[in-house]
Amino acid sequence: MVKTDISGVVPFISEDKLLSLSGEALRAHELLESGAGAGGEYTGWVRLPESPDRAELLRIKRAAERIKNDSDTLVVIGIGGSYLGARAAIELLKSPEHNLLKGDTPKVIFAGNNLSGAHLGRMMDFVSDGDFCVNVVSKSGTTTEPAVAFRLFRELLEKKYGRAGASRRIYATTDRSRGALRMMADSAGYETFVVPDDIGGRYSVLTAVGLLPIAVAGLDVERILEGALHERRALSGKTAENEAWRFAMARQALYRAGKKVEVLACFEPEFRFMGEWWKQLFGESEGKNGGGLFPASVEYTADLHSMGQYIQDGERTLVETFVSFESPERLRVPEDAGNLDGLNYLAGRSLSEVNRIALEATKEAHVKGGVPCIELKTGAITEETLGALVYFFEFACGLSAYMQGVNPFDQPGVEEYKRNMFRLLGKPGF
Ligand code: PA5
Repeated sequence: MVKTDISGVVPFISEDKLLSLSGEALRAHELLESGAGAGGEYTGWVRLPESPDRAELLRIKRAAERIKNDSDTLVVIGIGGSYLGARAAIELLKSPEHNLLKGDTPKVIFAGNNLSGAHLGRMMDFVSDGDFCVNVVSKSGTTTEPAVAFRLFRELLEKKYGRAGASRRIYATTDRSRGALRMMADSAGYETFVVPDDIGGRYSVLTAVGLLPIAVAGLDVERILEGALHERRALSGKTAENEAWRFAMARQALYRAGKKVEVLACFEPEFRFMGEWWKQLFGESEGKNGGGLFPASVEYTADLHSMGQYIQDGERTLVETFVSFESPERLRVPEDAGNLDGLNYLAGRSLSEVNRIALEATKEAHVKGGVPCIELKTGAITEETLGALVYFFEFACGLSAYMQGVNPFDQPGVEEYKRNMFRLLGKPGF
């Protein structure tokens, strides 16, 4: 369960001021549950952990087994909400270097999230010697980046395995009935998984969009869903004790007090891509009508030696949200008879203790420097914790966006660059 510690906010905004937002939080909560708010037709993720599609889940697990048996690499093709959640989960639970780890699961690589020919070419070289499969993920089925990458990887598959063999190695995750990818999948006979109509891209990690790549990486998708269900139950209370309300109220109070940027900070490098997923979730949900906290992320302690100066001492428009985990006491600082590095004062202490103290020291310094700090406290890094954290952030984001008065589920601003690009590239009709 996620706990919201706002002790680092209270020096800036009183508890009473925060509590004065509970009426707004209640209304936002009711809109999420009833689907009566703006974009309410996309609130299918709210109840998803209570009744995941069991038949789809079984097919996901079977497909994952097949991919594990016949492939060295799974190429996941998608952009935005169609890949960030899966990548974030795999990196958090395994490692950002998961493809270098020894094990009996395929490597999982992510393509179709940019238009760099150099990068895509290197990925194609990477897979071409071994056996590989493709999971192409696009709800609309028309997004340029994944569509271009899919064409190239499909060609590579067809050269290697023939047309029919390639079709058996392509798994398409897309809309139930609409879009170019659905049509291609139906005509070529790819195995397909569904992005439910009532769940938008950035809220879709607990559907096949995230779960198929996560299962291929050898992670337990049932435990992730259990964690999400547990969190859903924990967030059901409509009171100011609700941990997601507390997070949403703190963010909104600070935003209204003039803060402009929220920096998500974590002391576990495995969390880096969770930061990327979180930035999309909050950025696309709240950055509308000229408003919203700008979501940024840092990786500590590394970034204390780069961004730390600005956060401590730059423009005072920042809010910082720490995500902390219970870390295993795995490594201890060794004793050294010579003590030339002067580190013996730490000898015998675990790195998890040292890391926790680094967090405390940073929070204390940043609060003193004028940065309100929220801490989201979770458990050990496990599948259950990941499921809980995903659900917590999605729910808190929906609440916070409704409190801000925007539709959390659309992204009209994303279309502008696409129209320009299509016009400049000469796409018919633009
Ligand atoms: O959150 C969203 O809806 C978007 O970021 C989409 O995930 C992203 O644009 C990819 O869209 P699609 O899955 O339709 O290719």
